[in-house]
Amino acid sequence: MRQVYFHEPVLAETVVDYLIISGSGTYVDCTLGGAGHAELILQKLQGNGMLVGIDADPDALVFSREKLKKYSNVRILRGFFDQLDALLMQENLLPAEGVLMDLGISSFQIDAAEKGFSFQSEGQLDMRFNPDQELSAEKIVNTYSAEALEEIFRLYGEEKNSRRISQRIVQERDSGAIRSTRQLAEVIKKVVPVNYQVKSLARIFQAIRIEVNQELERLKTGLEKAFQSLTKNGRLVVISYHSLEDRIVKEFFRYKEKDCVCPPEFPKCICDKVSEIRIITKKPVTPSSDEINKNPRSRSAKLRVAEKISEYVEL
Ligand SMILES: C[S@@+](CC[C@H](N)C(=O)[O-])C[C@H]1O[C@@H](n2cnc3c(N)ncnc32)[C@H](O)[C@@H]1O
Repeated sequence: MRQVYFHEPVLAETVVDYLIISGSGTYVDCTLGGAGHAELILQKLQGNGMLVGIDADPDALVFSREKLKKYSNVRILRGFFDQLDALLMQENLLPAEGVLMDLGISSFQIDAAEKGFSFQSEGQLDMRFNPDQELSAEKIVNTYSAEALEEIFRLYGEEKNSRRISQRIVQERDSGAIRSTRQLAEVIKKVVPVNYQVKSLARIFQAIRIEVNQELERLKTGLEKAFQSLTKNGRLVVISYHSLEDRIVKEFFRYKEKDCVCPPEFPKCICDKVSEIRIITKKPVTPSSDEINKNPRSRSAKLRVAEKISEYVEL
């Protein structure tokens, strides 16, 4: 791992203000990354309570452990946040006062060419948060059918040229495996008009990354696990970076807030659904133009916050 882990936490003060409702208790940062948000949470806790930091990427944990070593009220755990309940239960840390999810990848991961997330630098097609997992970008690009690739590019990349790109990838594979980010970028460039290449490259790389790490499925499960792990009045703070993620967060919050989910034509409610959360941010909070100027990677961020209003049920 490189010594420098650069990542500027997005909407940093806002996150901490929304997340910490009492100066004690357990706060969970499920996407620890470079511990930017985590350190601010610890500063606000002033030695009280506990910060649990979780990340699937062991490099993030090595860095964060070192960065946070001066704090005694920290626990750092490796894992995906769709196993949040199990991770917290094993450590006897349930329930939590607040859970933070700052989705996607860190600047460090993008800039680490060897992780293969960026089409702008040469690296092995990898993109795994968890290096022990079998599925990698290389495996997807070299073994998925043209139809399967097209579906991923369409669903996760919302890319108009999905069919052409997927067919070309499969064709190119006949003359040897596509192993590096540059090789893949060159294949994509062959079928996308010059003016659209950068956007298409970004979309295709995003789509592959989402598939490698099963990001959207994990987000759906992770939101439910985070909700279940919260104490009554506990807060869930989520920052998303693209519309696919934000839609999932928005729909999850809306569903949890509803008092009834019966079809409107039913004369009387027959479902037992009760409202379980209060949505604190009616509209998503976005970074100021000043923050975007200082940290362009924050430009697509959307922050949503909800408060649990139902009782914690022991897990
Ligand atoms: C945007 S960065 C977080 C940066 C962090 N908030 C900071 O201030 O440094 C996202 C991090 O979440 C991790 N991650 C993404 N999805 C995850 C998941 N489902 N489970 C656990 N970690 C995940 C990534 O490995 C990455 O380190």
